[in-house]
Amino acid sequence: MYVIRTWDLPTRLFHWALVLCVTGLFITGNMGGDAMRWHFFLGYTVLTLLLFRFFWGWLGGYWSRFAHFPLSPRSVVAYLSGRWPETHLGHNPLGSYSVLLMLLALAVQAVAGLISDDEIATHGPLSILVSGDWVSLATSWHTQIGKFLVLGLIGLHVAAIVVYKVSKGLSLVPPMIHGDKTLNLPTVSSADGWRERLWALAMLIWSISLVWVLVHMAD
Ligand code: HEM
Repeated sequence: MYVIRTWDLPTRLFHWALVLCVTGLFITGNMGGDAMRWHFFLGYTVLTLLLFRFFWGWLGGYWSRFAHFPLSPRSVVAYLSGRWPETHLGHNPLGSYSVLLMLLALAVQAVAGLISDDEIATHGPLSILVSGDWVSLATSWHTQIGKFLVLGLIGLHVAAIVVYKVSKGLSLVPPMIHGDKTLNLPTVSSADGWRERLWALAMLIWSISLVWVLVHMAD
C-alpha cells in the first residue's frame, strides 16, 4: 500500500479556515447590528484566503495546482463513463468545476460586500468609490442572489461528499484533515515540507497586505 500526501497542510488549513469564516459570515450577516463588525472582518479574511488560494493554485502542492484540475471535456467524459484512473488523487472533473465555481462565487460575494450599502447603518468600505447604480446592483447581489448561490453550491458540495461515501464507500473528509490517501499503486504526491509551508506563509502575508491595501483604498 502507498500512502500519498494529497492535500498539503496549507490547502487543508485554507479549507477549514474557509469553512469557519463562511459559517461565521452567514451567522453575523443574519444577526446584523454590532455583529456586522465581525461580518466585515470575516469577509476580509475570506478575501485573503481566496487570494492565497489563487497563488497556491500556481505554487502549491501537485494536487492543489489548478493546472492539475482535470477540466477538459475528455476528462469529464472519462469520469462520467467510469474510466477514471484510480491514481488521480486530486479533485475529479466534476469536483474541479464545482470547486472553481465555489471559489468564484465566494470571490464575487466578497467583492460585492465591499461596495454594498444597506442605506441604514452599514456600508462596505469601497461603496463611496462607485456609482449608486453599482452600489444597488452589488447590494442586491450580496444580500439575495449571491448569498443563495453560495449556500446552494456549499449544499451541493457537502451532498456530493455524502453521496461519494454512500455510493462508493469512499471517505473524502479524512484526507482533507490529515492530508493522505492510500492506494495500491504508486502515484505523484504533493510536496508538503517546511520549505513549502514557509513559502505558503509568505503567500499568506502577501495576500493579507493586498487585501489591507484594497480595503483602505477609500480612506
Ligand atoms: C462553508 C462550507 C464549505 C466551503 C466554502 C468549502 C469549500 C471547499 C473548497 C474550496 C474545496 C477545494 C479545496 C481546494 O482545492 O483548495 C473543498 C474541498 C473539500 N471539502 Fe469543502 N467546503 C465547505 C464545507 C465542507 C464540509 C462541511 C466538509 C465535510 C463534510 C467539506 C469537505 C471537503 C472535502 C473532503 C474536500 C475535498 C474534496 C475532494 O476530495 O475532491 N467541505 N471545499
